[in-house]
Amino acid sequence: MITIQDPKELQAVCRAWRAQGLSVALVPTMGYFHAGHLALMDRARPLADRLVVSLFVNPTQFGPGEDLDSYPRDPERDAALAESRGADVLFSPPPGAMYAPDHGTWIEVPDLAKGLCGASRPGHFRGVCTVVAKLFHLAGPDVAVFGEKDWQQLAIIRRMVRDLDFPVRIEAQPIVREADGLALSSRNVRLDEAERAQAPQIRQGLLMLQELASGGERSAARLQAALHEHFDAHLPLGEVDYIAIVDPVTLAPLSEVRKKALAAVAVQMKNARLIDNFLLEV
Ligand code: PAJ
Repeated sequence: MITIQDPKELQAVCRAWRAQGLSVALVPTMGYFHAGHLALMDRARPLADRLVVSLFVNPTQFGPGEDLDSYPRDPERDAALAESRGADVLFSPPPGAMYAPDHGTWIEVPDLAKGLCGASRPGHFRGVCTVVAKLFHLAGPDVAVFGEKDWQQLAIIRRMVRDLDFPVRIEAQPIVREADGLALSSRNVRLDEAERAQAPQIRQGLLMLQELASGGERSAARLQAALHEHFDAHLPLGEVDYIAIVDPVTLAPLSEVRKKALAAVAVQMKNARLIDNFLLEV
């Protein structure tokens, strides 16, 4: 595995591969790898001849007062892990290499970014789309893999790729969880012991919603109320940011669960915001 910091060098390396007829897979990350990131790499590895993993804590997707400076980092461990998963290139540019001081071009998908996490993180998905578009232009991947943990991000990237004709296939990786159901996240290290003990209730509550839906409950309002009650009772250390029942593709709020509906939640703990989702089927 080689480590590349210069965007133009990544572009040259990937262009040379393509000229040789080699296909390229890309896994974009912000590092501090856990088993979720590694599952993305394992998924991507057999999909193309060459695997590029990017590690860039993208400043433009953090709002003022968010945790850009304290975002967990461990570049040496990350490099060893990416190599062990068969990455050919680890692309880890310094922030100044990705954004000119007068950077002023942005990609937005406002319809899909206004609800869920976008409501409390204005500008977040604009930063995500812009950096992912830049990574696509630098690596020119045939395929890129994203996690369903960030379902809204995945839906927005799919829409961007469709709307702007990016020549890349997007693959989705199911959520990787701890044994007790908590979705893996780089920010989980910030949970204290009591919060960590309650955090699996997010998953428990989502599974309860599926049971209610399987039992015939179709009203999104009643399902949301049931989840609020569950969190009040079992997750008192968390403050609910949102509980939403939406169309899995358009992310538009649903009043009734028909066929497939996405239940998505965000809960603010003291030092970490936890998100999770579940595709309800009836
Ligand atoms: P990051 O939070 O590092 O996540 C990188 C990728 O790993 C994303 O596609 C995310 O959905 C996936 N992922 C994280 N936790 C997961 C889990 N428990 N199971 C499965 N997949 C998981 O998402 C970002 O970085 C950034 O926004 C990025 C796309 C890199 C743009 O900066």
